[in-house]
Amino acid sequence: MSAAQKAKAESSPLVSAVDIVQEYPQPDGSTLRVLDNINLTFERPSINMLLGPSGCGKSTLLRMLGGVRPWNVKTPTSGTVEIEGQACTGQHPDAVMVFQHYANRPDLTVRENVLYPFRFAEWKRQVPLKEAHERVDQMLGEVGLADKRDQYPSQLSGGQNQRVALARALVLRPKVLLMDEPFGALDAQTRATMQTLLSRLNQAHPCLILFVTHDVTEALLLGDRVIVLSTQPARIIDDFDIFERQPRGQAWLMGAQVREMHDRIVGHLRATNGPGNVRLTV
Ligand SMILES: Nc1ncnc2c1ncn2[C@@H]1O[C@H](COP(=O)(O)OP(=O)(O)OP(=O)(O)O)[C@@H](O)[C@H]1O
Ligand SMILES: [Mg+2]
Repeated sequence: MSAAQKAKAESSPLVSAVDIVQEYPQPDGSTLRVLDNINLTFERPSINMLLGPSGCGKSTLLRMLGGVRPWNVKTPTSGTVEIEGQACTGQHPDAVMVFQHYANRPDLTVRENVLYPFRFAEWKRQVPLKEAHERVDQMLGEVGLADKRDQYPSQLSGGQNQRVALARALVLRPKVLLMDEPFGALDAQTRATMQTLLSRLNQAHPCLILFVTHDVTEALLLGDRVIVLSTQPARIIDDFDIFERQPRGQAWLMGAQVREMHDRIVGHLRATNGPGNVRLTV
C-alpha cells in the first residue's frame, strides 16, 4: 500500500455503502429488486446487528459489504461499497464470513480446521507458518477448545462446531467479520454462551462485526448499533445505537429503556412481516 493509500485508508470509514441497489434476474425474464437505496457507514470496530423479515435481502447485503459476490450477477447492481476508502469489487482479504452451519471440514481435526485458511496463497504470503501455528493454538485456548484440538467436527456439539468456525475466522485477524445468523441453529442456552464468548472475543480482538439475526434479544444484548430492514425490496427503516457497555446481563435487558427498544424493533418487524419470523426471547 502506498503512503497516499494508507493515509486515505486511515481517514476513511471502515466500510461504507452508498446508494446500493441489488436486482436479481428471474427465470421468467423479469427482475427482482432485493435492495433499494441502502446507505450505510461503519466508522470503526463495533458490533452491528442487521434484522429484517425473512427473505428481504439481509444475506445479500451482508455478503456485499465484505465483497463476497454471487456468481453471474453484477453486485451491487448500482451504488458502491468501499472498505477503508477503496472500492470493494471482489472478496476482500480483510473481510471474513461465519455461517450458521459452520462450514467445518469433516475430514480435518479442530486444529487443522482452524489452520485451514493458511493453506491459501494469500495467507501463506502474509503470515509465516510458525506464526500461523502460534495464532491457532492461542485462539483455540480463547474459544475454549484447547482440549478438543485433535477431535473431528462430528465428535463436537453444535456450539463447539461454531467455536471452531469463529476461531478459524478470528485467527485471520479480520477488520470485518460477517456473521450470517451464526447462532441461529443453537439451543437457547448454547446461544447465550456463544453470545458471551463473542462479546469477550470482540473486546480482545476488536473488529467491525456485521451480524444478521432474527433474534431481537440477541440484537439488544450484542449490538452497538441495530439496523432494521423492510420487506423486499429492503430499505433501512430503523438504525439506532445502543451505548450500554458489555457485558449486558438479564437485569439490563429487563429495564424500561431496553423494553422500549425491543418494542420498537418488534413493531417494525410485525409491520413488515407478521409475527411468524420474529424470535421473542425477552
Ligand atoms: N444469487 C441469487 N440469484 C437470484 N436471486 C437471489 C440470489 N441470492 C438471493 N436471491 C433472492 O434475493 C432475495 C433475498 O435473499 P437473501 O438470502 O439475501 O434474504 P435473507 O434476508 O437473508 O433471507 P433469510 O432471512 O431467509 O436468510 C430472495 O428472494 C432470494 O431468492
Ligand atoms: Mg439470509
